Amino acid sequence: MTQESRSLVGPVLISSRTFGNYLDQFAVTEAELLAGLVLDCPGGASEFAAELRARGGRAVSVDPSYELPVDTLAERIDAGRTQATEWARTQPDRFFFDENGVWEHSPVWERSARTFLADFARDKAEGTGHYRAALLPELPFADDSFALAVSGFLLFTYADQFDYAFHLAAVRELLRVATEVRLHPLNDSSGAPYEDLERLLADLDGVSARVLTVPGTTDPGENQTLVLAPQL
Ligand SMILES: C[S@@+](CC[C@H](N)C(=O)[O-])C[C@H]1O[C@@H](n2cnc3c(N)ncnc32)[C@H](O)[C@@H]1O
Repeated sequence: MTQESRSLVGPVLISSRTFGNYLDQFAVTEAELLAGLVLDCPGGASEFAAELRARGGRAVSVDPSYELPVDTLAERIDAGRTQATEWARTQPDRFFFDENGVWEHSPVWERSARTFLADFARDKAEGTGHYRAALLPELPFADDSFALAVSGFLLFTYADQFDYAFHLAAVRELLRVATEVRLHPLNDSSGAPYEDLERLLADLDGVSARVLTVPGTTDPGENQTLVLAPQL
């Protein structure tokens, strides 16, 4: 399959996967998440961190879109959901639409985004520090600030837009700030495996890597997660 013939989702969109999606795709339990400070990068419009805090956990979300005012961000989130839905409609073999033409994930993502937006607006008003505007591959945190960093649907997903050097620098930066890093999925948005994965693992000196098979939460075929931690 050439890159031109693949159906790629287009410019990076702001999606809003659910807390349950995160548990499945990163193969983590609630109990594991409660054990330490968690970084969600990119957090997008996911309810994940708000829901984790509601359960007694601690989390910080990072995304460049957090510099936007709440109303503008809300518009971008809606536009992202429309972009994703129209793209999914072109691939009936990967995605499920009901008899009314509604993509199964669209209402779920909308609810997740509502939870996120309420929490994000509180952060803007009260300065909770739960949401930080920043861009990989540079994060505004000291070394080893987090027990776990989860990173979904940016690295590998947009391999057509970010080169290998960006991927390597971004993973190294996540490993600098977190004791363990989980990345999902390991394919680009067309479903094609990230072709530089072996090279990336070889370039990560002193890091242990495991690839887990997990439930694909958006496309069942997107079912791999990479777990990285310093070698003991
Ligand atoms: C597809 S969303 C994923 C959001 C969330 N993890 C989820 O699964 O719903 C990708 C996010 O990456 C953010 N993004 C784009 N470039 C980035 C960068 N260089 N560093 C961190 N986040 C970035 C976008 O703003 C967008 O919110």
